[in-house]
Amino acid sequence: MSRLNIGRDHWNGSWGNCDGTSPCRRQLNETIMKRILVTGGAGFIGSNFVRMVLSEHPDCFIVNLDKLTYAGNLENLAEFLEYQNHKFVKGDICDGTLVEKIVDEYRIDSIINFAAESHVDRSITEPKIFVETNITGTLTLLEVARDKNLERFIQISTDEVYGALGPEGKFTEQTPLSPNSPYSASKAAADHLVRAFGHTWGVKYNITRCSNNYGEYQFPEKMIPLMINNALNDKELPVYGDGLYVRDWLYVYDHCAVIWQILQKAPPGEIYNIGGCNEKTNLEVIDVILNRLGKPKSLIKHVTDRPGHDRRYAIDASKIISELNWRPSVGFEEGINKTIDWYLQNQDWLGNVVSGDYQKYYESMYGNR
Ligand code: NAD
Ligand code: DAU
Repeated sequence: MSRLNIGRDHWNGSWGNCDGTSPCRRQLNETIMKRILVTGGAGFIGSNFVRMVLSEHPDCFIVNLDKLTYAGNLENLAEFLEYQNHKFVKGDICDGTLVEKIVDEYRIDSIINFAAESHVDRSITEPKIFVETNITGTLTLLEVARDKNLERFIQISTDEVYGALGPEGKFTEQTPLSPNSPYSASKAAADHLVRAFGHTWGVKYNITRCSNNYGEYQFPEKMIPLMINNALNDKELPVYGDGLYVRDWLYVYDHCAVIWQILQKAPPGEIYNIGGCNEKTNLEVIDVILNRLGKPKSLIKHVTDRPGHDRRYAIDASKIISELNWRPSVGFEEGINKTIDWYLQNQDWLGNVVSGDYQKYYESMYGNR
């Protein structure tokens, strides 16, 4: 594995198993149609995206740049690490020299920026790293995209930049940005930078604002995998406040599929809301999990609410539906059952992820709640 960890400190002008002279490089030069830098490709959505592209679009070459924070996990991509059209680089999106070297060396034509600090609760206890990665990191990537005149820069943003809704209404792309948490504020700042680089320097960008994703390989700090893991271990399920907060849930594969379509077909400068048309309260979701696992409702424990907790998110996805003819392909019942079954069948993965630092995190977040 160590030869794949080619961060700045390890830079020696060559790239793991593909140094420009190896057969894989010569072979690839003749067939590769797209050369994408995916950032954060060892995280939840990024690894699902990398897996989807490598499985379905073998004419695409991916460099996967990931810092491997607590949320990044190469086990998510185990079977894809030796693919000739996939190069993993351990590094930080804030490292402009490294990003520029990757873009030059691999003649990257597009960047898809998944890399982020992504958990709202952590942004409340430790906001600074959110500013560094989500704002400075995006700025760093944009500077390279501008200087190298890349074909496309896709920013994976979030519906949380719009703030919170009451019982009625949905977010459209025209809804003013009104982020409420340090996480969503940092994502909104990044969105503004992306738009500004398009306006000022003509960087060809798209921004996607998606609702809550669920599916395989999600780190169990997020609600669905956390509740699955706790229920599997007969631990209490910590429901914030009254549990009647509403999220719109989208199966991660559908999010990945539409990002690919945007890369292929969307005109530059367009922003797209993406959602599952699938609003549920947290208690409704937890009910499904408990039923599937055959666990009692008595495991539910209402705990102190998240400060500033957004009551409801809902997405008007009519723009992407009409312009790109996209629709979610996996309904909630199918998606959640697949997800729960995956966690049941991958308890080694889960066991590795929740060992060590996760226990400390859990104790600090939930110990006195
Ligand atoms: P995640 O936390 O699972 O993964 C983030 C990845 O980024 C990790 O692999 C981590 O190691 C990497 N990373 C963090 N800081 C980095 C840095 N400085 N340099 C390089 N890599 C770094 O997140 P996710 O849930 O997969 O979310 C991916 C993106 O999608 C994020 O931008 C998030 O804001 C956005 N998003 C997520 C959801 C959701 O429901 N999970 C919904 C909408 C949008
Ligand atoms: O809407 C998109 C966003 O969805 C993404 O941008 C974020 O990266 C992603 O983390 C997610 O944010 P949420 O805050 O909505 O997700 P989370 O899974 O943390 O929480 C979902 C709901 O469940 C929310 O109302 C808070 C609640 N919750 C969460 C946890 C972790 C609980 O009740 N108990 C918990 O232990």
